[in-house]
Amino acid sequence: MSISIPQLPKGTRDFYPEAQRIQNYIFDTWRSTAESFAYEEYEGPMFEHLELYTGKSGEEIVSQLYNFKDKGDREIALRPEMTPTLARLVIQKARELKKPFKWFSMPRLFRYEKAQKGRLREFFQLNMDIIGTESIYAEADLMAAIATMLRKFGLKDNEFAIGVSSRKLLATYLEEIGAPNPSLVYPVLDRRLKIGPEAFAKALTEAGLSETQIKQLDDFMSCKSLEEVRNAVKSENAAAALKEIEDLFETLAAAGYGDCVNLDLSIVRGLAYYTGIVFEVFDKGKSMRAIAGGGRYDSLTEKLGGERIPGVGFGMGDVVLADLLAEHKLLPSPKQSVDFYIASFTNDMKKVFETAQMFRAGGKVVSHPLAPMKMGKQLDQANYQGATIVVYVDGSKAGAGEFEYKDMRTGEMFVGNADTIVERLKTEVKKAE
Ligand code: HAM
Repeated sequence: MSISIPQLPKGTRDFYPEAQRIQNYIFDTWRSTAESFAYEEYEGPMFEHLELYTGKSGEEIVSQLYNFKDKGDREIALRPEMTPTLARLVIQKARELKKPFKWFSMPRLFRYEKAQKGRLREFFQLNMDIIGTESIYAEADLMAAIATMLRKFGLKDNEFAIGVSSRKLLATYLEEIGAPNPSLVYPVLDRRLKIGPEAFAKALTEAGLSETQIKQLDDFMSCKSLEEVRNAVKSENAAAALKEIEDLFETLAAAGYGDCVNLDLSIVRGLAYYTGIVFEVFDKGKSMRAIAGGGRYDSLTEKLGGERIPGVGFGMGDVVLADLLAEHKLLPSPKQSVDFYIASFTNDMKKVFETAQMFRAGGKVVSHPLAPMKMGKQLDQANYQGATIVVYVDGSKAGAGEFEYKDMRTGEMFVGNADTIVERLKTEVKKAE
């Protein structure tokens, strides 16, 4: 009888150390950028009561839930996004939390999606959110952070774009042209470019729009400049929504991010809770799925039974981002590196452990053999693990308190005490060819 080998579940990934190193690089850059913008980190549980999502997040995401009944007969769902959890946290401490505040999190999320390029069933997502202000400068802060982060990853301003739209603007336009219930229309508008003009028109007809309204809407969503939009809308509300976008763009331009943002009224966003500015980040040619998406959600806490507390934020997934960075050759070399490898000619393991401990106490990354072996093998290991310096605990040329050591970058041999060895590590030397 043959036993089948266990398989990786569809849409999930294993992170062998090489892959985990790249993952950590992404996490480190996410975290350091969020912290440099003074966002504070938070976390929540990986599963929540199912009802946190049903009816509030939007049909698509609910259809992708991983949900089950637990042993206490409770309906549970693995989190598909962080925003409802954040809203729950905010409601629970609505009075104590000093607003506005800026928080970030890097949750592992689960969506039963059709696994495809850029979309998995388990992924990580940086979330940055600002709670407690309706000011457009919150959007500006988030977008500045996105641009800073993508630049830190090495992308140039002409290699990505933050496309900005406004549900407020869309809603006023829908009202102006006499279109029915926007909440039925948004999910269709969100799919406009994915489904093609015919299916788009058909779905809007089904939502109750006339042929003229469909044409008007299509033209409106194709507007490329604020000027064009200004000519298309008349109401005061629309003018206010436009002014917001204008302020946002001008602020970002003043901060040096003008080339990273543009107006893109084709962006609607699939999630149901957005109320104002919505935005998505794409690679410049839009050849990949969105790198990030977000927007303003001023009534989510209210929808969940709390008081009305405005919020705005975004989620940036690790999958498309890593694909994009790989395409631009911006991912770091996935090799291990250690500062010191402690070697012994006589397999004196006690001395090896003792010396390793001494260097580790000084904050260095230290490796050594785990079984007696020939020096050639030890050097192979040191090489494989990317050791910068090999320290020999029992070299014959070393005096009391000294070690023989080899700089693996140049192949040179030296003799010195622990301080000299640490100094050598800090010295920048050219690698031997
Ligand atoms: P979302 O558009 O559903 O928004 O997801 C944001 C980003 O997460 C996407 O642009 C993509 O990079 C990544 N993502 C989504 N689904 C997958 C998947 N199946 N596999 C890989 N990556 C994926 C939200 O989740 C909102 N909660 C974001 C937000 C935060 N809005 C306000 N605050």
